[in-house]
Amino acid sequence: MERINELLRRYKGYIFPHGWTTPEYLDSLHSFQIRDSDIFLGTYPKSGTIWTQQLLISICELSGGLNEYPNNREQMPWLEYPEGRGDYALRPSPRLFTTHLPPALMPAGLKEKTAKVIYVMRNPKDNITSYYHFQKVIDVVKNPYSFEEFLEAYLAGNVAASSWFDHIRAWHSVCDQYNILYLTYEDMILDLRGAVVKICDFLGKNLSDADIDKVVEKSTFETMKGDSKANYKFCEILKGDFMRKGRIGDWKNIFTVAQSERVDRILEEKLGDMNLQFIWE
Ligand code: A3P
Repeated sequence: MERINELLRRYKGYIFPHGWTTPEYLDSLHSFQIRDSDIFLGTYPKSGTIWTQQLLISICELSGGLNEYPNNREQMPWLEYPEGRGDYALRPSPRLFTTHLPPALMPAGLKEKTAKVIYVMRNPKDNITSYYHFQKVIDVVKNPYSFEEFLEAYLAGNVAASSWFDHIRAWHSVCDQYNILYLTYEDMILDLRGAVVKICDFLGKNLSDADIDKVVEKSTFETMKGDSKANYKFCEILKGDFMRKGRIGDWKNIFTVAQSERVDRILEEKLGDMNLQFIWE
């Protein structure tokens, strides 16, 4: 792996936290044996990953059950980090996986379109803000950074998970190749119940109205904050909270007007042709 700095390594054009995975393991994922019942969640970091994990786990629990794991990270492990979880071939179905990988490093079998994939995107200014605060509590980028330094690194793609812009483009480019549902963090904030219904429809899970209400209740910011399986306080490498603010528009508390306009310009330059709609506040 190519060294970026003391905390980051690049492999096949994509940046990983140092020591979290290996080239051999990442290469092995190409031939990862997919089951029809597998569910994959793809995100760029800080886009609502652990929130969507809680939604998917709650939905699967209520619609036929899941084998119990001690927490959401064990229940829905990150595909790219081996972390000694043993052989996934021995896991009971349905298997749930999380990933920040770009599609190019994902299992080739996903193109058979049997397994289901959900991709969650968040507006880049809130994503930057959340990531900036997060790097203060976990060693995944050069640390510590001022906001200005972090913004530069993020816009240059020199952070774990590389460029947000590349991630968004790459994941949208597989819309016809994967069996994939696209969601946004903002849609989930504005209508959580609607998002749960959308996910259930996509997964073919038939939940009663009362069960849908239960999923919503288990996944609110306040409930998750107090849920020791879901709030990632069990995560030994964290020096602070995963559950920070959980809002749209916190970027306004940290961006200068010039920084905000700069992100607007780069967004237009890099993804303008995709006509993505963002909710900023
Ligand atoms: P903030 O830092 O803006 O608060 P990820 O899981 O991809 O790392 O994303 C983390 C972000 O999702 C954090 O954003 C966190 O607070 C937010 N989040 C987690 N659970 C949430 C929930 N139930 N409702 C709203 N936001 C949530």
